[in-house]
Amino acid sequence: MENNDTFCASCHTEPETTYVSREEIVRSGAAAPQDLAMYHAGGEHPVACIQCHSGEGLVGRAEALALGSKDLWAYVRGSYPQPAPLNHPIPDANCLKCHQEVLVKKSFNNHYHRFLPRWQQIAGDNAAHCVDCHAGHKEDGSPQLAFLNKERARIQCNACHRLIGE
Ligand code: HEC
Ligand code: HEC
Ligand code: HEC
Ligand code: HEC
Ligand code: HEC
Repeated sequence: MENNDTFCASCHTEPETTYVSREEIVRSGAAAPQDLAMYHAGGEHPVACIQCHSGEGLVGRAEALALGSKDLWAYVRGSYPQPAPLNHPIPDANCLKCHQEVLVKKSFNNHYHRFLPRWQQIAGDNAAHCVDCHAGHKEDGSPQLAFLNKERARIQCNACHRLIGE
């Protein structure tokens, strides 16, 4: 059932249910995507909610299921906040399942991807992760920049540049 996106909306309330309805709008071709998750829902190879919200292989799947069953339990007990706070930030591995190429492409216009693992090695949690520049459901990104919000991304660019002494 987790592969069925409407299943997610059966528990979640606003704003999460709008994530599902926005996705349906894109799939039906009624409107262009306004955020990165909607963008993923369209196109030739639609990406389901669970694919961004789970890790690599069996282990990643098991972790998502464990988190899911904890959430199910909270739902059954009726003790949970809505909208659901994101206590488990989406790790880079979830994105890299499908976007390995960004770590290897050698061009200046990709240096902020290629040096990312090195930055994370040096600065740990203070370094940027994919979703710091690429928000999933925020609608303030620029469609021309793959839904990147320039101001938020610039903060991350500057943080790495400061570290290297610029
Ligand atoms: C059985 C009801 C239920 C279903 C179905 C459900 N959720 Fe949730 N989800 C919850 C509850 C309740 C919480 C909040 C848990 C808490 O904070 O204690 C939650 C939290 C979350 C969070 C935040 C998790 C964290 O700790 O960071 C995400 C992301 C999420 N759900 C995504 C999804 C997705 C994607 C689906 C569909 C594959 C889904 N949920 C289906 C009940 C549900
Ligand atoms: C299940 C595979 C999958 C997962 C997981 C996934 N993506 Fe994607 N992503 C795609 C596909 C397919 C496209 C559309 C490719 C295309 O048309 O160029 C895409 C497109 C994108 C684009 C726009 C590319 C462009 O050329 O404009 C960005 C940015 C992006 N993804 C970032 C992310 C981030 C960040 C995550 C993790 C939160 C993520 N993706 C998770 C498959 C995935
Ligand atoms: C410092 C900010 C930043 C971080 C962190 C970041 N990106 Fe990007 N990403 C960008 C920028 C800027 C672009 C180019 C946007 C454009 O020109 O359309 C981009 C573009 C992309 C694209 C589109 C295709 C391409 O190769 O340009 C994908 C896919 C993508 N990023 C995935 C990821 C993934 C996966 C991660 C984590 C491993 C990540 N990004 C981390 C800034 C970032
Ligand atoms: C492209 C990858 C991607 C897809 C597809 C995706 N999400 Fe998310 N999701 C994210 C990211 C990244 C966040 C962290 C908050 C943000 O950046 O907006 C997030 C956060 C969330 C949260 C936590 C609450 C919040 O707003 O922060 C919930 C619940 C959630 N997503 C549900 C869904 C549902 C339901 C779907 C399917 C309709 C979905 N997601 C599809 C990437 C994705
Ligand atoms: C992981 C670290 C890192 C990130 C993130 C990063 N950069 Fe850089 N950037 C570098 C390094 C290293 C250089 C080379 C500096 C040198 O040779 O002096 C550089 C150089 C540059 C230069 C060349 C001009 C100069 O000042 O030397 C530009 C322009 C630039 N980066 C733009 C960006 C933008 C835009 C982003 C965000 C989308 C970004 N960078 C993110 C590490 C990073």
